[in-house]
Amino acid sequence: MVKGQKSAPAEKRLQQPARVLVIHGPNLNLLGDREPEIYGRTSLAEIDRRLRALGRELGVTVETFQSNSEGAIVDRIQQARGRADVLVINPAAYTHTSVAIRDAVGALGVPVIEVHLSNVYRREPFRHHSTLADIAHGRIMGFGPESYMLALRAAAGLVPSSTR
Ligand code: DQA
Repeated sequence: MVKGQKSAPAEKRLQQPARVLVIHGPNLNLLGDREPEIYGRTSLAEIDRRLRALGRELGVTVETFQSNSEGAIVDRIQQARGRADVLVINPAAYTHTSVAIRDAVGALGVPVIEVHLSNVYRREPFRHHSTLADIAHGRIMGFGPESYMLALRAAAGLVPSSTR
């Protein structure tokens, strides 16, 4: 390559918006119906819609994914290698148990923001442990659906300006 010349893929990347992958874990498909006194009445479809709208405002691409299966979440994180700039994840109950999701996140090699609708520290002690806490860039919890919006704003701020 000629000195001072940028490679085509790098040039191309510079013009593309940052890519944020948002993953929702088990039982979050029931949001709106499920324990509304804890999780509120907003559906997951509505949260995803708000995330995409905010993404357009912030100039980032937002892709969302939900699964009740640990393996499917691991597979989705693996697929994101080289294709996502930031991961926003609410692993739900897997937060407290999953070494497999932690390892997949570790292998992804991009900043990760852990999100929870509820403040897990105001709840049962088994929810106080997170397998992601020490590898997450940051953690946002306790603001209901707004936790995701705050996380997306934080994600947009983490992406090098060259990709935005
Ligand atoms: C949650 C908290 C978890 O403890 C719980 O298992 C969930 C949702 C939250 O968003 O507050 O399913 O991640």
